[in-house]
Amino acid sequence: MPLVPMRILLDHAAEHDYGVGAFNVNNMEQIQAIMMAAVETNSPVIVQASRGARSYSNDNYLRHLMIAAAELNPQIPIVMHQDHGNSPATCFSAIEQGFTSVMMDGSLEEDGKTPASYEYNVDVTQQVVKKAHALGVTVEAELGCLGGIEDGHGAGLSGEEALAHLTDPDEAGEFVAATDCDALAVAIGTSHGAYKFKKKPTGDVLKMGVIEKIHEKLPNCHLVMHGSSSVPKELIDIINEYGGEMPETYGVPVEQIQRGIKHGVRKINVDTDNRLAITGAIRKVFSEHPDAFDPRKYLKPAREAMAEVVKARMIAFGQAGWADKIEIHTLEDMARRYHG
Ligand code: G3H
Ligand code: 13P
Ligand code: ZN
Repeated sequence: MPLVPMRILLDHAAEHDYGVGAFNVNNMEQIQAIMMAAVETNSPVIVQASRGARSYSNDNYLRHLMIAAAELNPQIPIVMHQDHGNSPATCFSAIEQGFTSVMMDGSLEEDGKTPASYEYNVDVTQQVVKKAHALGVTVEAELGCLGGIEDGHGAGLSGEEALAHLTDPDEAGEFVAATDCDALAVAIGTSHGAYKFKKKPTGDVLKMGVIEKIHEKLPNCHLVMHGSSSVPKELIDIINEYGGEMPETYGVPVEQIQRGIKHGVRKINVDTDNRLAITGAIRKVFSEHPDAFDPRKYLKPAREAMAEVVKARMIAFGQAGWADKIEIHTLEDMARRYHG
């Protein structure tokens, strides 16, 4: 089956009350890990690449790896999504490269750092929706700003500042009506990377209530949670046991994500947990086999460790078991649907 528009998966997830993990990739092993988990759990798949991933791996390599994933697994619907497009041009180049879904993150200006005005956000999102929908490509937008900057993306807001940039539920209604985006990423106090919270988050820093309010106002809008790695202690412990030095840190508990899924969250972005799993597995091999130098010796366990994390998330988010039950529509079908 060809790569499919993301809207199909999100509509199906909404109809059956589950969420779909969106996992970041930069190389072949990460794509393989996601596919291994998807095959084992019969899950639909969203693979996403940031701008950094596209330049690291090169669009041509990425496109062919994704085509290989689709050819080898025809029973699994697979979406290829641009994560955090910083401008319409980035989204358009992704579409030219065969991405079936794009995020126009107009919550920040083109530098990917400065919080943008509402008007700027509406304008760039409208530009992307117009062109993407004509081709059947799905568009995710973002309103409100995530905290943190450690991975190079984000406004660099401290925990307190981030709380001042949460998504406003009233504005969300206006924004979705003005842009006709397919999915809306919301800011609820999370940030990218491993250092989200200094202790297990409570409702005063992780504002799940904001999602509930938005869902009440916009029951048909597919919501997206970014910065949704759970940063499991077990993964940090493995890294530290084998020579790493990561301080105590907390992510978004899986049960809070499950609460979000009950209130309209259909896409959940996870990158850091997979990075942690890969790093721990590689450190373990190097520590136990200091003589190792065949990359397969450490990339294979790294790929397996990532597949285990992805599998656990697919099961927890409820997407497991659905891959072969989703009615597939092509980009052309979707283009007709948007303009019909
Ligand atoms: O946007 C955040 C993702 O974790 C991607 O990170 O920009 O380092 O590829 P990246
Ligand atoms: P994490 O850093 O929590 O995995 O978030 C990833 C993300 O939101 C990618 O867009
Ligand atoms: Zn993100």
